[in-house]
Amino acid sequence: MQRTIPAGLDRKEAAIFLQLDPARLPRHIAIIMDGNGRWARRRHMPRVAGHRAGVESVRSTVETAARIGVPWLTLYAFSEENWKKRPKTEVGFLMKLLGRFLKQEVPALNKNNVRLEYIGRRHELPADVNERMEWARAETAKNTGLVLTLALNYSARSEIVDAFRSMADAAARNGGLSHLHVDEEAVAQHLYTRHLPDPDLLIRTSGEMRLSNFLLWQCAYAEIYVTSTLWPDFRGTHLLEAIAEYQKRERRYGGLNEDRIHDAVEDNEFAPHKAAHR
Ligand code: FPP
Repeated sequence: MQRTIPAGLDRKEAAIFLQLDPARLPRHIAIIMDGNGRWARRRHMPRVAGHRAGVESVRSTVETAARIGVPWLTLYAFSEENWKKRPKTEVGFLMKLLGRFLKQEVPALNKNNVRLEYIGRRHELPADVNERMEWARAETAKNTGLVLTLALNYSARSEIVDAFRSMADAAARNGGLSHLHVDEEAVAQHLYTRHLPDPDLLIRTSGEMRLSNFLLWQCAYAEIYVTSTLWPDFRGTHLLEAIAEYQKRERRYGGLNEDRIHDAVEDNEFAPHKAAHR
Protein backbone atom coordinates (compact mmCIF):
# COMPACT_ATOMS: atom_id res chain seq x y z
CA MET A 1 0.00 0.00 0.00
CA GLN A 2 1.25 3.49 -0.90
CA ARG A 3 2.26 5.41 2.25
CA THR A 4 1.66 9.14 2.46
CA ILE A 5 4.78 11.17 3.16
CA PRO A 6 4.06 14.13 5.46
CA ALA A 7 4.36 17.51 3.74
CA GLY A 8 7.66 19.30 4.23
CA LEU A 9 9.99 16.31 4.71
CA ASP A 10 13.07 16.39 2.48
CA ARG A 11 14.12 13.32 0.43
CA LYS A 12 16.44 11.90 3.08
CA GLU A 13 13.86 12.37 5.83
CA ALA A 14 11.16 10.85 3.63
CA ALA A 15 13.32 7.76 2.97
CA ILE A 16 13.78 7.13 6.72
CA PHE A 17 10.14 7.95 7.45
CA LEU A 18 9.02 5.24 5.03
CA GLN A 19 10.90 2.66 7.11
CA LEU A 20 8.99 3.64 10.26
CA ASP A 21 5.83 2.08 11.59
CA PRO A 22 3.52 5.12 11.88
CA ALA A 23 1.43 3.31 14.50
CA ARG A 24 4.43 3.02 16.85
CA LEU A 25 5.83 6.54 16.88
CA PRO A 26 7.06 7.56 20.34
CA ARG A 27 4.42 9.82 21.86
CA HIS A 28 6.88 11.86 23.89
CA ILE A 29 10.50 12.45 22.87
CA ALA A 30 12.89 14.22 25.25
CA ILE A 31 16.29 15.48 24.10
CA ILE A 32 19.44 16.42 26.00
CA MET A 33 21.02 18.85 23.54
CA ASP A 34 24.76 18.56 24.14
CA GLY A 35 28.00 19.31 22.33
CA ASN A 36 27.62 22.96 21.34
CA GLY A 37 30.94 23.89 22.96
CA ARG A 38 32.82 21.01 21.29
CA TRP A 39 31.28 21.84 17.93
CA ALA A 40 32.60 25.40 18.25
CA ARG A 41 36.02 24.33 19.56
CA ARG A 42 36.56 22.04 16.57
CA ARG A 43 36.07 25.07 14.36
CA HIS A 44 38.25 27.34 16.51
CA MET A 45 35.22 29.42 17.31
CA PRO A 46 33.98 30.75 20.68
CA ARG A 47 31.58 28.48 22.59
CA VAL A 48 28.68 30.85 21.97
CA ALA A 49 28.98 30.16 18.22
CA GLY A 50 28.02 26.57 19.04
CA HIS A 51 24.93 27.75 20.89
CA ARG A 52 24.00 30.01 17.98
CA ALA A 53 24.38 27.11 15.54
CA GLY A 54 22.30 24.95 17.90
CA VAL A 55 19.25 27.12 17.19
CA GLU A 56 19.07 25.77 13.63
CA SER A 57 19.08 22.23 15.06
CA VAL A 58 16.18 23.13 17.36
CA ARG A 59 14.26 24.53 14.39
CA SER A 60 14.85 21.46 12.20
CA THR A 61 14.06 18.98 15.00
CA VAL A 62 10.84 20.76 16.03
CA GLU A 63 9.65 21.03 12.43
CA THR A 64 10.29 17.38 11.66
CA ALA A 65 8.67 16.20 14.90
CA ALA A 66 5.61 18.36 14.15
CA ARG A 67 5.40 17.20 10.53
CA ILE A 68 5.45 13.48 11.32
CA GLY A 69 2.89 13.88 14.12
CA VAL A 70 4.89 13.39 17.33
CA PRO A 71 2.57 14.80 20.02
CA TRP A 72 5.13 15.86 22.67
CA LEU A 73 8.76 17.03 22.40
CA THR A 74 10.78 18.27 25.38
CA LEU A 75 14.17 19.96 24.96
CA TYR A 76 16.70 20.42 27.76
CA ALA A 77 17.78 23.94 26.88
CA PHE A 78 19.25 25.16 30.14
CA SER A 79 19.90 23.29 33.40
CA GLU A 80 20.05 24.81 36.86
CA GLU A 81 23.68 23.70 36.93
CA ASN A 82 24.35 25.59 33.64
CA TRP A 83 22.99 28.70 35.27
CA LYS A 84 25.18 28.44 38.35
CA LYS A 85 28.41 27.01 36.92
CA ARG A 86 28.95 28.76 33.57
CA PRO A 87 30.59 32.16 33.07
CA LYS A 88 28.14 35.07 33.39
CA THR A 89 28.88 36.15 29.82
CA GLU A 90 27.86 32.72 28.43
CA VAL A 91 24.71 32.66 30.57
CA GLY A 92 23.87 36.18 29.40
CA PHE A 93 24.37 35.10 25.80
CA LEU A 94 22.11 32.08 26.24
CA MET A 95 19.38 34.27 27.73
CA LYS A 96 19.60 36.70 24.79
CA LEU A 97 19.59 33.81 22.35
CA LEU A 98 16.47 32.38 24.00
CA GLY A 99 14.70 35.74 23.88
CA ARG A 100 15.56 36.18 20.20
CA PHE A 101 14.61 32.57 19.41
CA LEU A 102 11.17 33.01 20.98
CA LYS A 103 10.52 36.24 19.09
CA GLN A 104 11.69 34.88 15.74
CA GLU A 105 10.19 31.41 15.96
CA VAL A 106 6.58 32.20 16.89
CA PRO A 107 5.41 32.53 13.24
CA ALA A 108 7.03 29.17 12.33
CA LEU A 109 5.60 27.54 15.48
CA ASN A 110 2.15 28.78 14.53
CA LYS A 111 2.60 27.61 10.93
CA ASN A 112 3.50 24.14 12.23
CA ASN A 113 0.66 24.19 14.81
CA VAL A 114 3.14 23.91 17.73
CA ARG A 115 2.20 24.95 21.28
CA LEU A 116 4.94 26.13 23.62
CA GLU A 117 5.27 25.14 27.27
CA TYR A 118 8.07 25.42 29.84
CA ILE A 119 9.40 23.47 32.79
CA GLY A 120 11.96 24.61 35.36
CA ARG A 121 12.33 27.26 38.07
CA ARG A 122 11.19 30.13 35.89
CA HIS A 123 11.02 32.65 38.71
CA GLU A 124 14.85 32.65 38.85
CA LEU A 125 15.17 33.71 35.20
CA PRO A 126 15.49 37.41 34.28
CA ALA A 127 12.16 39.28 34.21
CA ASP A 128 12.48 40.29 30.54
CA VAL A 129 13.09 36.66 29.50
CA ASN A 130 10.08 35.56 31.54
CA GLU A 131 7.92 38.20 29.84
CA ARG A 132 9.05 37.02 26.40
CA MET A 133 8.39 33.40 27.41
CA GLU A 134 4.87 34.27 28.54
CA TRP A 135 4.26 36.19 25.31
CA ALA A 136 5.40 33.25 23.15
CA ARG A 137 3.31 30.83 25.16
CA ALA A 138 0.19 33.01 24.76
CA GLU A 139 0.85 33.46 21.01
CA THR A 140 0.95 29.67 20.49
CA ALA A 141 -1.65 28.69 23.10
CA LYS A 142 -4.39 27.84 20.58
CA ASN A 143 -2.27 25.43 18.55
CA THR A 144 -3.39 21.82 18.68
CA GLY A 145 -0.40 19.91 17.27
CA LEU A 146 3.00 19.20 18.82
CA VAL A 147 3.52 20.45 22.39
CA LEU A 148 7.09 21.76 22.57
CA THR A 149 8.26 21.99 26.17
CA LEU A 150 11.49 23.88 26.85
CA ALA A 151 13.30 22.92 30.05
CA LEU A 152 14.81 26.19 31.29
CA ASN A 153 16.68 26.53 34.57
CA TYR A 154 15.55 22.93 35.05
CA SER A 155 16.86 20.25 37.42
CA ALA A 156 15.06 16.97 38.04
CA ARG A 157 15.98 16.87 41.71
CA SER A 158 14.70 20.42 42.25
CA GLU A 159 11.52 19.41 40.43
CA ILE A 160 11.01 16.49 42.83
CA VAL A 161 11.73 18.73 45.84
CA ASP A 162 9.23 21.29 44.51
CA ALA A 163 6.67 18.50 44.00
CA PHE A 164 7.00 17.39 47.64
CA ARG A 165 6.65 21.00 48.80
CA SER A 166 3.60 21.46 46.60
CA MET A 167 2.01 18.26 47.99
CA ALA A 168 2.63 19.37 51.57
CA ASP A 169 1.18 22.86 50.82
CA ALA A 170 -1.89 21.30 49.22
CA ALA A 171 -2.40 19.07 52.27
CA ALA A 172 -1.97 22.05 54.63
CA ARG A 173 -4.65 23.97 52.69
CA ASN A 174 -6.89 20.90 52.90
CA GLY A 175 -6.88 20.60 56.68
CA GLY A 176 -3.35 19.51 57.62
CA LEU A 177 -0.70 16.89 56.97
CA SER A 178 -3.05 14.07 58.03
CA HIS A 179 -4.65 14.77 54.61
CA LEU A 180 -1.38 14.19 52.78
CA HIS A 181 -1.94 11.46 50.25
CA VAL A 182 1.19 10.10 48.57
CA ASP A 183 1.34 7.63 45.72
CA GLU A 184 2.95 7.68 42.27
CA GLU A 185 -0.04 9.35 40.66
CA ALA A 186 -0.08 12.09 43.31
CA VAL A 187 3.66 12.78 42.89
CA ALA A 188 3.29 12.90 39.09
CA GLN A 189 0.44 15.42 39.45
CA HIS A 190 2.73 17.79 41.37
CA LEU A 191 5.70 17.61 38.98
CA TYR A 192 6.29 20.40 36.44
CA THR A 193 5.45 17.82 33.76
CA ARG A 194 1.85 17.19 34.85
CA HIS A 195 0.77 18.28 31.34
CA LEU A 196 2.90 15.52 29.75
CA PRO A 197 2.98 11.73 29.50
CA ASP A 198 6.33 10.13 30.43
CA PRO A 199 8.92 10.19 27.62
CA ASP A 200 9.08 7.02 25.50
CA LEU A 201 12.39 8.01 23.95
CA LEU A 202 15.25 10.01 25.48
CA ILE A 203 17.88 11.22 23.01
CA ARG A 204 21.27 12.57 24.05
CA THR A 205 23.67 14.08 21.56
CA SER A 206 27.48 14.23 21.62
CA GLY A 207 28.07 10.74 23.00
CA GLU A 208 27.90 11.31 26.76
CA MET A 209 26.22 8.47 28.68
CA ARG A 210 24.56 10.52 31.41
CA LEU A 211 21.08 11.69 32.37
CA SER A 212 22.47 14.96 33.78
CA ASN A 213 19.58 15.54 36.16
CA PHE A 214 16.96 15.52 33.37
CA LEU A 215 13.44 14.09 33.91
CA LEU A 216 14.73 11.46 36.35
CA TRP A 217 11.28 10.45 37.61
CA GLN A 218 9.65 10.55 34.18
CA CYS A 219 12.33 8.55 32.32
CA ALA A 220 11.88 5.42 34.48
CA TYR A 221 10.96 3.36 31.39
CA ALA A 222 12.23 5.59 28.57
CA GLU A 223 14.35 4.04 25.83
CA ILE A 224 17.69 5.86 25.80
CA TYR A 225 19.37 6.68 22.49
CA VAL A 226 22.83 8.27 22.54
CA THR A 227 24.34 9.58 19.32
CA SER A 228 27.86 10.91 18.82
CA THR A 229 26.43 13.69 16.61
CA LEU A 230 27.02 17.08 18.25
CA TRP A 231 23.86 19.11 18.79
CA PRO A 232 24.63 21.82 16.15
CA ASP A 233 24.89 19.03 13.54
CA PHE A 234 21.61 17.37 14.62
CA ARG A 235 18.73 17.65 12.13
CA GLY A 236 15.34 16.10 11.42
CA THR A 237 17.05 13.13 9.74
CA HIS A 238 18.85 12.33 13.01
CA LEU A 239 15.54 12.48 14.87
CA LEU A 240 14.03 10.00 12.40
CA GLU A 241 17.08 7.71 12.78
CA ALA A 242 16.59 7.76 16.55
CA ILE A 243 12.92 6.84 16.09
CA ALA A 244 13.90 3.98 13.74
CA GLU A 245 16.25 2.64 16.44
CA TYR A 246 13.52 3.08 19.08
CA GLN A 247 11.15 0.97 16.98
CA LYS A 248 13.69 -1.88 16.99
CA ARG A 249 13.70 -1.97 20.78
CA GLU A 250 11.39 -4.19 22.74
CA ARG A 251 9.77 -2.38 25.66
CA ARG A 252 9.06 -4.67 28.58
CA TYR A 253 8.44 -2.31 31.54
CA GLY A 254 10.07 -4.85 33.85
CA GLY A 255 8.09 -7.82 32.49
CA LEU A 256 8.95 -10.63 30.06
CA ASN A 257 8.20 -10.76 26.36
CA GLU A 258 5.69 -13.28 24.98
CA ASP A 259 8.36 -15.67 23.58
CA ARG A 260 10.29 -15.67 26.83
CA ILE A 261 7.16 -16.52 28.83
CA HIS A 262 6.31 -19.29 26.33
CA ASP A 263 9.84 -20.81 26.58
CA ALA A 264 9.83 -20.59 30.35
CA VAL A 265 6.46 -22.38 30.60
CA GLU A 266 7.66 -25.05 28.12
CA ASP A 267 10.81 -25.64 30.19
CA ASN A 268 8.76 -25.77 33.39
CA GLU A 269 10.93 -22.92 34.74
CA PHE A 270 8.18 -21.73 37.04
CA ALA A 271 8.11 -25.03 38.97
CA PRO A 272 8.61 -24.16 42.68
CA HIS A 273 11.91 -26.07 43.05
CA LYS A 274 13.39 -24.21 40.03
CA ALA A 275 11.95 -20.78 40.82
CA ALA A 276 13.38 -20.91 44.35
CA HIS A 277 16.92 -20.94 42.90
CA ARG A 278 16.56 -17.65 41.03
C1 FPP B 1 25.02 22.03 25.82
O1 FPP B 1 26.22 22.22 25.11
C2 FPP B 1 24.02 23.00 25.43
C3 FPP B 1 23.55 24.01 26.21
C4 FPP B 1 23.97 24.24 27.59
C5 FPP B 1 22.58 24.99 25.73
C6 FPP B 1 21.56 24.50 24.77
C7 FPP B 1 21.17 25.65 23.97
C8 FPP B 1 20.91 25.61 22.66
C9 FPP B 1 20.85 24.39 21.88
C10 FPP B 1 20.69 26.88 21.98
C11 FPP B 1 19.37 27.24 21.57
C12 FPP B 1 18.22 26.72 22.29
C13 FPP B 1 17.10 27.41 22.43
C14 FPP B 1 15.89 26.77 22.96
C15 FPP B 1 17.04 28.82 22.04
P1 FPP B 1 27.58 22.47 25.88
O2 FPP B 1 27.84 23.94 25.87
O3 FPP B 1 27.51 21.86 27.24
O4 FPP B 1 28.59 21.71 24.96
P2 FPP B 1 29.94 20.99 25.39
O5 FPP B 1 29.57 19.86 26.31
O6 FPP B 1 30.51 20.51 24.09
O7 FPP B 1 30.80 22.04 26.05
